[in-house]
Amino acid sequence: MGEEQVQEFKLKEDCELRFAAGEDSEVVLELVHGYAEIFGTEIILNKKYNFPAKSRVAVFTWKSATIELVGATESAYVAESTPMVIYLNIHAAMEESRKKREEQAVSNSSKPKGPRLLLVGPQDVGKTTVSRILCNYSVRHGRTPILVDLDVGQNSVSVPGSVAALLVQKTADVVDGFERNMPIVYNFGHSSPSQNLSLYETLFKALASTINSQIEQNDEARLGGMIINTCGWVDGEGYKCIVKAASAFEVDVVIVLDHERLYSDLSKELPEFVRLTHVPKSGGVEQRTAQIRSATRGENVHRYFYGTRANNLFPFTFDVPFDTVTLCKIGAEQLPDSCLPFGMEVENHETKIIIIEPSVEIKHHLFSFSRGSIAEKNVLTSSVWGFCLITEVDMEKRTISILCPQNTIPSKTLVYSEVTHLDDQIER
Ligand SMILES: Nc1ncnc2c1ncn2[C@@H]1O[C@H](COP(=O)(O)OP(=O)(O)O)[C@@H](O)[C@H]1O
Ligand SMILES: [Mg+2]
Repeated sequence: MGEEQVQEFKLKEDCELRFAAGEDSEVVLELVHGYAEIFGTEIILNKKYNFPAKSRVAVFTWKSATIELVGATESAYVAESTPMVIYLNIHAAMEESRKKREEQAVSNSSKPKGPRLLLVGPQDVGKTTVSRILCNYSVRHGRTPILVDLDVGQNSVSVPGSVAALLVQKTADVVDGFERNMPIVYNFGHSSPSQNLSLYETLFKALASTINSQIEQNDEARLGGMIINTCGWVDGEGYKCIVKAASAFEVDVVIVLDHERLYSDLSKELPEFVRLTHVPKSGGVEQRTAQIRSATRGENVHRYFYGTRANNLFPFTFDVPFDTVTLCKIGAEQLPDSCLPFGMEVENHETKIIIIEPSVEIKHHLFSFSRGSIAEKNVLTSSVWGFCLITEVDMEKRTISILCPQNTIPSKTLVYSEVTHLDDQIER
């Protein structure tokens, strides 16, 4: 055993320590003096925080701080220039608008609705991180914002392939992020919106309307407002999608991270009441390769079933007879027009529900438990109870084996996801 590597950093006001934990070594962080926060969550003096290998972290201080890192880091340096004050100003503007609307609501006896902020920009500019910082600042201010994540590639609320929303009542855990308590989740089933745009739009509209009806009776959630994270697709159809999402969620603030053309295009297109702001990305955000993205998706699925190191979950594996469930998939292959009988209306193949027969091809795929059913014809726009992972398909016994957060299935209608995961925890 070699000696543990110990590094100490003294941070001045408005500076941040950025570090990446080593390839296979965790890093233990401790605030030994002063005040500091990690992506908007205050850290506690003399508490040890264990960051797993490869984590990328920034520790920021508004005053001064001394930080100790134990363990091998791939990089660690102090940055004096950060956009944190800009993010704080965005938070202050959101808080201002909540107060104003509360006052207006008193005078015209209506129900006040908090600000809705949409974060857009290309991949790897820090959108997810900024959404976390803003939610944390709101919570520290006594508010309960709703974090909406429309990023089907790297979702921070549920598994990859979903669009989801979470009422944030506690600041994010410094290592694990937000507690994923009773989110509203829709299964899109692909890790890029481009794979089925009509379905993607249908689902984010359904999500917006479900949130609207749930906050109708919840004053605090309604006033908390929304912080909406998006994926990094900003060109062509992706751009149109951003405009449609802004309208579906009735956003009043759009923050463009690090993309001047997108800012300029949106300034011509969005309605006048929408406040549009362009902000720089943090110098700490780094590009991730496709391989890293795919590994992060895998970790996200693993986390869904097994929890985190600090908060273990114990999923179940059991067999489900073919006859007791209906498996389906949304979206069919498009038939060429020449195959349609003359005069026949073309229905939207992208939102068509198709029953699928169990076969070995579904092995390792995620399926959602729909709150809707085929009989009631509401599968398309229903949110989900949760997800299971198909670990085995036995064509002779006519059963599928599933990995499931609970020991019974909450719904008999299972909807396919293209997202696969190899469950290496289970020994059968
Ligand atoms: N200020 C920072 N210093 C160091 N790393 C950061 C900083 N901000 C973000 N990161 C890291 O950069 C990576 C990409 O950021 P993320 O917010 O996921 O970008 P996006 O959502 O735009 O793709 C993440 O691993 C995140 O932890
Ligand atoms: Mg992101």
